[in-house]
Amino acid sequence: MKKNILSILDVAEEIEEIIDLGIKLKHDVKAGKQFNDLQGKTLAMIFERQSTRTRLSFEVGMTLLGGHAIFLTGGEMGIGQRESPGDIARVLSRYVDAIMYRPINTLYLEELAAHATVPVINGLDREEHPCQILADLMTIKEKKGRLEGLTFTFVGDGDDNLAHSYLLGCTLTGMNVTVISPKKYWPNEYYATRSKDIAWKKNHTVTITEDLNAVAQTDVIATDTHVSFWFEHERQQRRTDLSNYVVTQEIMKKAKPDVIFMHCMPIYYGEEVTIDVAHGQKSVVIDEAENRLWAQMALLTKLLS
Ligand code: CP
Repeated sequence: MKKNILSILDVAEEIEEIIDLGIKLKHDVKAGKQFNDLQGKTLAMIFERQSTRTRLSFEVGMTLLGGHAIFLTGGEMGIGQRESPGDIARVLSRYVDAIMYRPINTLYLEELAAHATVPVINGLDREEHPCQILADLMTIKEKKGRLEGLTFTFVGDGDDNLAHSYLLGCTLTGMNVTVISPKKYWPNEYYATRSKDIAWKKNHTVTITEDLNAVAQTDVIATDTHVSFWFEHERQQRRTDLSNYVVTQEIMKKAKPDVIFMHCMPIYYGEEVTIDVAHGQKSVVIDEAENRLWAQMALLTKLLS
C-alpha cells in the first residue's frame, strides 16, 4: 500500500512502533546482524537544498537494509522548470520504490506526492521535518526510558518546522509540550490547534508562552536555527527579536537537573545556543544525529518491506 510521509501525523498510529523498531535495529546492527529486508528496492532522494544528515542517513540506511539509494538534485532535474513535479513523480514511480524529497516549495512536494504511485517522504519542508522528529523521539526514549508523561520544551523560533514537528510528535507520544518564543514567532494556528487537540485527548498539555521561566520542570530542551532557509532575508531582524531566546547555561539550570539538550543540527553557535550547552554534558546532539539513521531505517522497513 502506498503511504506518503509528508507530516508526522501520517504515522500517528505507528509512531511508537517505528521508534521501538529503530532502537532494535540499532542494537541488532551494532551486534553484527545483517538485514536484507529491502533487497532489490531503490530510494530516489531529491534535494533542492543542502543536506548532510538527511542524505547520509537515508543512503547508508538503504545500504544496511540491502537496498540502494540514488542522490538527485533539484537543479539537475529542473523541477518546476524543465519538468513538472507531477511528471517527475509519474516517471520516477516506474523506476524506484520510494521517493524522499527536500523541496524549497511545499506545493511541489504535495504535487509530487499526489502523482507518485510509490511512497513519498518529506525530507524537510517549510512546515515540518517528520524524519527528524522520529529520530528525536527515539533519542529521548533511549535517554529517558519512556516518552509518556515527560515534558518537552522548545526555545526559539516557535513557527519553525522543527517546532511544528515537536508539537505534533511529542503530543502524539504522550508528552507535555511547551514552546517558548516571542509572540511574533509563535507557532502557526494549525500546529497550535492540532497539537492542543491531541494533547487534550491524552490528558496532557501544550503551553505556548514568551516566559523563559517556563523551562522549569522540563525533561528536554530543544532549539533550532533562528534563521531557517526561508527567512534569510529577515536575518538581522530575527537576530534582534530572538536575542533573549538563545539557550544558555543559565536557561539549562532553570530546568530539571537531568534535563537533556537537543538540536537537529547544523548549529549556529551563539545564535540559538551557546557552544558550552551544545557540546556540554547534558547535550545529546550527536546521538540525535546518529539516530536519523536508525529511525529512518525503521520507517523504510515499515513502508517498503
Ligand atoms: N537535521 C538535518 O536535517 O540535517 P541536514 O540538513 O544536514 O540534512
